[in-house]
Amino acid sequence: MNILGISAHYHDSAAALVIDGVPVCAVQEERLSRHKGDAGFPLLAIESCLQHAGIEPNELDAVVFYERPMLKFDRVLTCALRAFPKSWRAFPKAMKNLLGEKVWMRGIISSHLGVPGRKVLFTEHHQSHAAAAFLTAPTRRAAIMTADAVGEWATLSVGEGERGSNGSTKIRRFREIRFPHSLGMLYSTFTAFLGFKVNEDEYKVMGLAAYGEPIMTEQVRKLIRRTPDCAFALDLNYFEFHTTAQRSYSSRFIELFGPPRNPYDPIDLDTSEGQRFADCAASVQRVLEDTLVELARVLQRETGLTDLCLGGGVALNGVANARLLAESGFQRIFVPPAPGDAGCAIGAALYCDRIHFGNADRDVPDHPFWGPSVDGSELARIAQEDGHSIEEFRDGALVDQIADDLAASRIVGWMEGPLEFGPRALGHRSILTAPHTTEMRDRLNREIKYRESFRPFAPVVPIEVAGRYFDIPPGGPRLARFMSGVFPVRPEWRSRLQAITHVDGTARVQVLERAMAPRLHALLEAYGRRTGIPVLLNTSFNLAGEPIVNRAVEGYSTFLRSKIDVLVAGGTRVTKHTSAMGSTAAGRIREKVA
Ligand SMILES: [Fe+2]
Repeated sequence: MNILGISAHYHDSAAALVIDGVPVCAVQEERLSRHKGDAGFPLLAIESCLQHAGIEPNELDAVVFYERPMLKFDRVLTCALRAFPKSWRAFPKAMKNLLGEKVWMRGIISSHLGVPGRKVLFTEHHQSHAAAAFLTAPTRRAAIMTADAVGEWATLSVGEGERGSNGSTKIRRFREIRFPHSLGMLYSTFTAFLGFKVNEDEYKVMGLAAYGEPIMTEQVRKLIRRTPDCAFALDLNYFEFHTTAQRSYSSRFIELFGPPRNPYDPIDLDTSEGQRFADCAASVQRVLEDTLVELARVLQRETGLTDLCLGGGVALNGVANARLLAESGFQRIFVPPAPGDAGCAIGAALYCDRIHFGNADRDVPDHPFWGPSVDGSELARIAQEDGHSIEEFRDGALVDQIADDLAASRIVGWMEGPLEFGPRALGHRSILTAPHTTEMRDRLNREIKYRESFRPFAPVVPIEVAGRYFDIPPGGPRLARFMSGVFPVRPEWRSRLQAITHVDGTARVQVLERAMAPRLHALLEAYGRRTGIPVLLNTSFNLAGEPIVNRAVEGYSTFLRSKIDVLVAGGTRVTKHTSAMGSTAAGRIREKVA
């Protein structure tokens, strides 16, 4: 049975194809269209999935959209009416948005793909999140918690999932918290207040939090009140996101926390103003963590289970995830590589397969590499035309050469096999460097990533030696498999792991099992033989404002436009030949990318 899952029209659209119960391909539209956070209908992603499997749209048994547009319409309409007359300005725009495209998804999907309307199905948004979290995790029974900004009405749901020995699958939802009461919206409101982009820069708030003290948690607790049924409610006097699209916080919010940050002003942590913003970030981060821990504790006691699957954009908060592991009572926590809305494409397709069609349970491969594969010969061809130095290696020799490069402090653009699904580079589209000095961190920030200096870089380490360098609790390696947890760097190694140690002594470490990315694992070992420390800095292979690279040509373009020293795809290694770096080569690469 061929089932296509689609996530679209909010942010980060994606498509995923499930064949006979197992995903075969999943990719975000932005990686193909090259528009960061592309929210359009994911035609390129769909085409890529179908092409990968060699099937035509008429061979699809079902196309599943990741939420129910009519329920979402109901929510927008209800909220607008409740907020009238305050909402009258935003109302026409919201209606135009919904009526223009989003409500009539059955017809849109049907006409885009040429499939009959009866084959187009819908899952609820948090069902998609829950399925993406539970059905891709190597567990047979687990509690499930999903939390995001908002889907249709739900903003947080708790329940449990079970894969029976007879092949049956059950996903039960116990209860949900509904819009406008939303942990995701609370965090996003602070994201906007701190001058960052909502739905995109929430991780910057988490990074900034480490520089502050949570001295404003009492103020934040005024915004979010615990309710007797162990849930929470926002005090809407402090917010405006539910009544207008102009601003998410109210004047009372500003009275409590001071003036918002101008997005164009840099954050200077040496000033009291900069420190206030860091303290705000630390305070909302603390309240988010406390709330999640309390909700998870209740769920753990209620289910008596040891495993928890986390879904929704809030599950990208690695600091909160680590606290959940330490304090919720769950022994293992599973976060998929794409817990946000893009991952709903896989979730919707799997939910439909197991629950709607009642197909037998299948194990889903435990890795994030569901996208198109990179072609080393394509890189060799392009780079050769531009006169760069190209070498071809066999596997072991390539690993040795790149380990030499890294040990010589060269910055490596590393492309290998299929593209990651989700926001994190997990070893197939990564920029790798030596992790030892702050000079390397500053060089990366200055010459390649062009990003705020308060944002930390992440390390990758083989699972066999992770505990030597990082203080990882039982259950931690699982959480760190897809970089979903933040853990302390052991104090004795911090001076030798400066580039990946955050100001509070932690790191968002990826703990790598050989089977998941054998070549990167071999590279870490080879690097360890040269330097004594088998840890590398691993950051996503992209420039600021651009999506992570997909094809060899995009890696090559990024390589040319930045100070990456070495580029690898397949067995091909390219280094910059300075005489070829004139305007002609740059012009040619622009044409190729176009
Ligand atoms: Fe969501």
